[in-house]
Amino acid sequence: MHVDVNGARLHVREAGPASDNVLLLVHGFPLHSGMWAPQLDDPPPGWRVLAPDIRGFGDSGDVGGAVLSMDVCARDLATMLQQLGVTQAVVCGLSMGGYIAFSMLRRHAPLIRGLVLCDTRAEQDSQDARTARHTLAERVLRDGIEPLVDSMLPRMLAPRNRDRMVALRIRDIMQSVTAPAAAAALLGMAERVDNTDLLRNITIPTQVVVGSDDAITPVGPARLMSRAIPGSYMDVIPDSGHLPNVEEPEIFNAVLRRFLSAL
Ligand code: MLT
Repeated sequence: MHVDVNGARLHVREAGPASDNVLLLVHGFPLHSGMWAPQLDDPPPGWRVLAPDIRGFGDSGDVGGAVLSMDVCARDLATMLQQLGVTQAVVCGLSMGGYIAFSMLRRHAPLIRGLVLCDTRAEQDSQDARTARHTLAERVLRDGIEPLVDSMLPRMLAPRNRDRMVALRIRDIMQSVTAPAAAAALLGMAERVDNTDLLRNITIPTQVVVGSDDAITPVGPARLMSRAIPGSYMDVIPDSGHLPNVEEPEIFNAVLRRFLSAL
């Protein structure tokens, strides 16, 4: 389905029954909601699952600006939930999706019933990382998405998964991302605020998940993030890199279900 929000038309994948138990899946970069196929194909029993493409990505039209801030994405998703009559959802964000989940927590907290922070971080970019994102954004606008795919794909997956079908599926998703959307999201991630101050004040149930071989958001910092969030759960998904939900979907889904069933 499509939902009109704040001048954008978001494409939203849906699974599960009509239910007040709503799970919102927020994709990473440079990806779209298709990355959640293993969760949409096998939704947690009794849960309505919503997986939108953020503006400019997947089938959600044009990005509509040179910078796509995490706050704009968060506002779009909050509006989307309101348009669909959803009063509260568990928000599960992977990497950039986690940055968006933090922004939702800052600005739209009443909408959030629980949090699943996958392969993400609370810190903002260092000055070097910011500069690198700007350089990469310029390169993507000049040369297209392919160099970004070639450099990012091997870092996304654990070494043992780089020759599996999953790598082809992720490559396909990455190649569908347009250069303007990728560049705008890079600049938006570069300007995101630091969320570490938020962690100790999180009072809703929270699950931290990370792939054992995640080279982008590694286990050590994920563990520290979990320790900083009172009462949060922490799971390391074995044999996985940055995308444990597609690399080890059965284990990931079991962790997700355990968390949801305890709410
Ligand atoms: C992602 O997977 O969303 C990105 O790796 C996030 C980032 O570049 O910081």
